[in-house]
Amino acid sequence: MMAPYLIRISSQKGGVGKTTIAVNLAIALQIEGYKVLLIDGDTVNPSIGFHLGLEDVNIGLKELVTGKANLMKVRAVHVPTGVHVVPGVLTQKEYMPTEDMLKKLKEIVSKTSYNFAIMDTMPGYTIERIGSYYNEALLISTPEMASVANVIRLATWFDKEHLKHSLVLNKMKNKRYELHQKEIEEMYEGKIVAKLPDDETVPISIEEHIPAYIYSKKAPFSKAMRELAHFYGARSEATSETEKRSVWSRLFRRR
Ligand SMILES: Nc1ncnc2c1ncn2[C@@H]1O[C@H](COP(=O)(O)OP(=O)(O)OP(=O)(O)O)[C@@H](O)[C@H]1O
Ligand SMILES: [Mg+2]
Repeated sequence: MMAPYLIRISSQKGGVGKTTIAVNLAIALQIEGYKVLLIDGDTVNPSIGFHLGLEDVNIGLKELVTGKANLMKVRAVHVPTGVHVVPGVLTQKEYMPTEDMLKKLKEIVSKTSYNFAIMDTMPGYTIERIGSYYNEALLISTPEMASVANVIRLATWFDKEHLKHSLVLNKMKNKRYELHQKEIEEMYEGKIVAKLPDDETVPISIEEHIPAYIYSKKAPFSKAMRELAHFYGARSEATSETEKRSVWSRLFRRR
């Protein structure tokens, strides 16, 4: 059994769209036929519950990583899509994630049969050493200078941690004050994997507790999100192919 492909959703600045993208990417992948676990790793301001209408939970990530409850017990189901969620508890005192918690989470998630585990996080650096726990970090930025400069600092940190990362631009308005894709790619030294438009459907759908991706399939945001889901679908399949090959090569080497 393949371990789930664990993606950390990160940004240096707050409010750039991490939670929105975590939720809608999880749903888009689930609709594509993958099994997805969505984890609210923002231990200061958990907010996935608002997006999915799951605010009333009283058990979540903290109980899971401290061994007080197992995954079956803490996981909530987003009924319209079947996405499984490890929520954060709004009424709980905030806490900073530690490396031990991340290690425990990785252990638990690795034993499941989800294809993807997508983890929303709080903005910026945390005290956890993220090392090899994630398969990849998805960096989110708006196309403005301050946001891009900040996300590149985060990318530099991830490079040091040997964590693979990809960059998505969100809330694109195509205004003159926005940086061009090419300028951003030069600064980032890599390709932008998705450009998500600024789309009123997003705040409207959050207000209704129905993620944009199912609120309106035709909304520009949803169309761009579908492409991002395809990107990850292809990437996870490529990864599993490589792993399959390496299993074969290990077998042959032993002979
Ligand atoms: N593509 C978009 N178009 C329009 N509005 C958006 C878009 N993406 C996010 N928003 C809006 O931006 C706000 C912040 O989004 P979100 O909560 O997802 O950001 P965040 O990075 O998770 O914030 P925080 O750092 O506080 O956790 C929300 O009110 C949401 O409606
Ligand atoms: Mg958030």
